[in-house]
Amino acid sequence: MPVVAIIGGTGRLGSALARRWVEAGYRVVIGSRTPARAREAARTLGAAGGSIAEAVLASEVVMLAVPYACHDALLAEIDDTLDGRILLEPVVPVDPADPTRALAVPGGSVAAAAQARLGRGVRVVAAFQTVAAKHLRSDAARLDMDVLVCGNDRSACRLVLHLVEAAGLRGWLAGPIANAAASEALAPVLRHLNREYGLGGAGLRVVAPGRS
Ligand SMILES: NC(=O)c1ccc[n+]([C@@H]2O[C@H](COP(=O)([O-])OP(=O)(O)OC[C@H]3O[C@@H](n4cnc5c(N)ncnc54)[C@H](OP(=O)(O)O)[C@@H]3O)[C@@H](O)[C@H]2O)c1
Repeated sequence: MPVVAIIGGTGRLGSALARRWVEAGYRVVIGSRTPARAREAARTLGAAGGSIAEAVLASEVVMLAVPYACHDALLAEIDDTLDGRILLEPVVPVDPADPTRALAVPGGSVAAAAQARLGRGVRVVAAFQTVAAKHLRSDAARLDMDVLVCGNDRSACRLVLHLVEAAGLRGWLAGPIANAAASEALAPVLRHLNREYGLGGAGLRVVAPGRS
């Protein structure tokens, strides 16, 4: 089992995944701009915590669970320490003033732009964009939701599939990192459905009628 750093693991998505991964037996390191905040969050989650640099260096998988608005600056801060690691991208580019509205991103998607920028030495995998953190915070061991996993390196995607399963979700190998644009665009659509129909955390389910 790889050590997983969650940068922004003090927040909604990161802390919810951290709890589930720790319960599944993964070693998780929370990274924060405020190391004391990371250590406090880690203490309640059964994880380790520290600065962003400490979390990256301690891990094999680095998840950037931070808002889109600060993603690129954060990546610039750590990019020279990511070589050889898997970068897990759950970031959804939305209008901060209206999270039901998708934003056009240079490079096609946050994850594809990160892969283009970092090169082959860092294996970028996109996942979790369509899962509402509120469900991950529930006590239910299994959640009736699917996760699309996109990336150019199959073994990295398989490793992330295990993290998806460990979080109580069902994962699908959904193609190269170019396909992450679809997952990133689906998230604001789901949020719009929540608002329009009062769904409270709509998710994704892959169906194949006629297949048993
Ligand atoms: N929430 C969800 O349901 C959900 C679902 C799917 C995908 N996502 C995506 O996952 C990412 C995290 O979402 P979230 O809801 O967990 O975010 P969040 O709770 O608003 O923030 C997560 C963490 O990001 C760090 N952060 C906030 N502003 C920052 C800044 N200006 N510079 C650097 N770090 C900053 C903070 O950590 P420190 O202060 O400790 O550094 C914060 O605890 C987003 O890109 C979102 O689109 C979220």
